[in-house]
Order: sequence, then C-alpha cells, then structure tokens
Amino acid sequence: MSEQEIKVPDLGGADEVEVIELLVSEGDSVEAEDPILTVETDKASVELPSPGAGKIIKLTVKVGDKVKEGDVVGTMESSGDSGGDAGKEGSGTEDSGGESEPKAEEKPESKQEDETESKPAPKKKSGGSRKETVLVPPLDGMENVPVIEINVSEGDTIEADDALVTVESDKASMEIPSPFGGKVVKVLVAEGDKLSEGDKLLELTVAGDDGDEQDEQDDAPEADSGKSEEPEAKADEKEQDKEPAPQSQGSVYEPPSPGAKVHAGPAVRKLARELGADLTRIKGAGPKGRILKDDVQAYVKSQLQQAQQGSSVATGSGIPGVKLPDFSQFGDIQKEAMSRMMAVTAANMQRSWLNVPHVTQFEDADITDMEAFRKSQKAAGEKKGVKMTPLPFLLKACATALAELPQFNVSLDMERKEVIRKQYIHIGIAVDTPNGLMVPVIRDVDKKGLWELAAESAELAQKARDKKLKPAEMQGACFTITSLGGIGGTAFTPIVNAPEVAILGVSKAAMKPVWDGSEFQPRLMLPLSLSYDHRAVNGADAARFTSLLGQLLGDIRTLLL
Ligand code: COA
Repeated sequence: MSEQEIKVPDLGGADEVEVIELLVSEGDSVEAEDPILTVETDKASVELPSPGAGKIIKLTVKVGDKVKEGDVVGTMESSGDSGGDAGKEGSGTEDSGGESEPKAEEKPESKQEDETESKPAPKKKSGGSRKETVLVPPLDGMENVPVIEINVSEGDTIEADDALVTVESDKASMEIPSPFGGKVVKVLVAEGDKLSEGDKLLELTVAGDDGDEQDEQDDAPEADSGKSEEPEAKADEKEQDKEPAPQSQGSVYEPPSPGAKVHAGPAVRKLARELGADLTRIKGAGPKGRILKDDVQAYVKSQLQQAQQGSSVATGSGIPGVKLPDFSQFGDIQKEAMSRMMAVTAANMQRSWLNVPHVTQFEDADITDMEAFRKSQKAAGEKKGVKMTPLPFLLKACATALAELPQFNVSLDMERKEVIRKQYIHIGIAVDTPNGLMVPVIRDVDKKGLWELAAESAELAQKARDKKLKPAEMQGACFTITSLGGIGGTAFTPIVNAPEVAILGVSKAAMKPVWDGSEFQPRLMLPLSLSYDHRAVNGADAARFTSLLGQLLGDIRTLLL
C-alpha cells in the first residue's frame, strides 16, 4: 500500500481545461483506468483515468475548477495492484515511485504517432480516402465482453473518438471510441456479441489528407487526428453539438427519439443502467447537453415523485405525443405561431383534462317564467344602462347551490391529502374573445343583486374583449360558468377549470313540450351541463346540484330565500 498523487496527464495540447464532472468520491475504490473526473476543453471532453487500482483518499478539485497537465487532482492509496491489467494498458502506475502520469499511448489525447498496435496504423495518403477496419482495443484485461449498445449505423459520418459501441462486463461498462473520423461502411458486430481485444468492429472510409482527416470535418472538435484508444477516454458524440447547453434540469421529460444519440460518459451510463433510467429521456445540463450524474438522479427523483403523487400525472408525463404527418402531401397548408394566450390555454386545458377525472351531469331547467321576468325588466335595464341577460340569474343560482352543497366549493390538495373548503363564493365566467377564451372572476356573487351582477359581468366581458383585464380580475374563482347559450348547441361537456372542482356549461334555451301530468305544455328549457371532478364530488351530489339549479331557475323567487 502506498499513497500516490493523481495528476492530470498530457491533455493533447490543451493548456487549461475545466473540470465538469467528478466521477468518484473520497473513499471510493477504483480500478486502474477507472475514470476519475471529466474535463472539458472548448473542443472536447475527456475522462481522466485512475493511475492505478486503490482507494481515493482525497479529491482536491471540484466542478468548475480549471486544471492543466501535471496538476494534482487528488491522492489515492494504491492497492499495489496497478501492474496488472493497467500495466497491460500501459497505465504508467506500475512505477512504485508514484509518478501517475500515464504513458503516451494511453493518454486521453495522445497523438497519432503514439497509438498502439491494437488498431491498424492508418495508411497515410495525400488526399483521397482509405478504408480502415477498426479493431477492438485492449479491454482492461477483459475478454468476451458483451456488446450492449451499437452507437453508430452504416452510412453515419463520425469523428475520431465518437463512441462506436458500448460493452459491459460484470464490473464496468465502457464505450469503444473510434480511432478515426470518417463514414461507417459496415458494422461488423451486433448487440449481444462478445468482444475481445483485436476483434473486428467495423469498416470506415476515412478521408485521407496527410492522415489529418479531422481537418476536413467542418466542425471537427479535435485539432489532431490521433486519439486515445482508451475505451473510456471519451463518450462525446460531437456531431450532436446541435443544441445549446439546456438550462433545465434532467428531470424534464423528453420523449424518446428513436436513433437519438446520448451524450453521456460511461460512469453516467452505468448509473442510468443501475437505476433503470432511460438516457434518451433525460436532458443533460452539462456542456453541449451532456448528461451528468445529477441529471440522472434528478430524473429518477422526479419519476418517483410522479409515481407517488397522483396529481403529477397532470403534467402529461409518460403520455406519448401525437405524431403529425406532413400535411402538405394532402394539399396546400399555412403555418403560423400560436399566440401566447392560445399556448397557455392549451396547456391549462390539457393539465385539467389529465388531472381531473371528469363526469358530466345534464339537466334541463324550465326558464319560461324566468325569461318572462327578465324580459319585463327590459325598460328598467335601459334606464340603468345595463342589459339583463340570463347570465346573472345563472350566477345567482350557482352561488345558492354552492352554499347549499359546499362540496362543490372546494379544491383538493392531493399531495397533502387535504380538502380546501372555501368560505367565499367567487365565480368565473368564460368569455369568448377574438384572442381566445378568458375567464374573469366575479367576487362574492352570493352578496350581490341581479343588476349588480348584470353590470359587473358585462363590464368584465367587455374588458376581456378589450384585453384590459388585470391578472387579479382573473384569479380566485371557486367555480366557473361557461355559457354558449347566445350561440347555440344542446349540450356539451366542459372541462373543469382546475383546481376548481366543477364547471357549469349552459347551452341554448329552446321551447320543448313538457308533460305536466295531464298534457304537454310548451316550456322554454335551458340545457345545463355540469362537469365535475369525481374525486371531490360524487354523482348523487352532482345530480342534487343540477336539480337544485333547475328548481332555482324554474322559480326565481326561491333565489331570495
Ligand atoms: N339561451 C338562449 N339565449 C341566450 C342564452 C341561452 N342560454 N344565453 C344568452 N342568450 C341570449 C341573450 O339573452 C342575448 O339575447 P338578447 O340580446 O335577445 O337578449 C344573446 O343571447 C346574447 O347574450 P350575450 O351577449 O352572450 O350575453 P350573456 O350574458 O348571455 O353572455 C358571455 C355573456 C360573456 C358569457 C358571452 O358573451 C360569452 O362570451 N359566451 C361564450 C363563452 C364561451 O366561449 N365559452 C366556451 C368555453 S369552452
């Protein structure tokens, strides 16, 4: 047992690089070549391998620190086992002197001329292209290691160090990087195949230009063509440098995209496999979208939370999106961006629909007498400058029903398993505007008279159409009325405006024959559609609510009681 410093090896010409991920913790036992930390230059990311087998005693760097060749990043207690497999790979740690810098051929960014014989030396040509068969490099002493993932397909253009396949032993998983950039001609292995050093992996057409094929790639991230052949030296898919580093955490649901490549190191892949996390669903917060351990952990945590909280299903997690065909194949189309309001409304509708187990209760209210009274108030309304529509009666009837059946005036807190009972009666009215649906709220409906409600609802509807509503005027509703009566329809199933637990849809009143016990009478019937959250309200109470509305609207004198 001897203590040795862990030093940053030759970084292939990079002066100073940033530590972007610590892959081990103090106290961890590591094998020779296990990745210790990941550093990133502006061109590439590299996992720095352990100089030998042993135990990490101390890490002296943290994420964000800048390091350069020769810097000490930690110390480890060597198990004296470093001359084994690691020696085979030339890890450089077999020197008991503790000099940890790896030999040239296993440095993460070692030059072309340092490459070992484990792959055929590229035939250097000026111009033109050549075919290369990529062989399996030394696998840290392991043999017959199963392929668990093929990361490239025939026809893919890849760059040096792109992960070709991922293999996994019972001890570790590792990606085998490509020694060259080029085009994949043929993949010679399949998932499940068992690989050993020297096996043929795939055939590549390599653009030849003094051996420096990378210079021909537009955005080649490496300046030199020679790359480490260490299986764990790289995990980047640099052709994936397509999106800026996302700000969001890994818990964000990402629909899996078939064939999408994952930007993550072997340690992260291993963690994801252990936790059963699908990396294609995780958005990386690291540079260039690289998935970090934290992202995997955050994703798993969010999935667990969602599984535990029924309410989280509301986010739509796990629900596959609707695939759109190319509509232009059927005829001319035009595309336009959704307005913000439409996008917000769509998200709210979806959230409510997914969260709330909806049931709709229908009822016809006989408003013959109510309408006669309303019409009788026309002259009075003109004097007041207020138009009396059926809406104020509906507001008043709903306020009375909410007071009588308070289970409709609640919200559910599923996380805390609480029912929040409201001691006030504020009702939202859905208003159709040229910009979309808006829902201003009338406060204390139970305390207001019909004229006051008529004036206030007309004023709020006008403000909504003029885009003059203040946010406070759209908050605090206990219940919503959505009236399509002025437009038409016989019934509909409105979506509950969660976290409210019920909404009344009103359709167009129509004269209908109603049996009075001895004969049919022509009566003006108003169709009501009450959608409710079946977690908060049972069906019998819903039927009580709508029949109470029927009674109240059928004899508006009862609204005074
Ligand atoms: N049956 C028959 N006629 C009705 C009626 C009903 N249920 N409700 C209203 N009317 C009549 C009114 O009496 C009025 O007629 P009149 O001028 O002859 O008196 C006419 O329809 C227009 O009324 P309206 O201006 O719509 O007033 P209102 O107070 O009934 O409704 C709003 C006000 C804001 C609710 C309404 O204008 C609105 O925007 N409705 C659409 C709501 C919506 O889009 N919901 C969809 C949610 S998904």
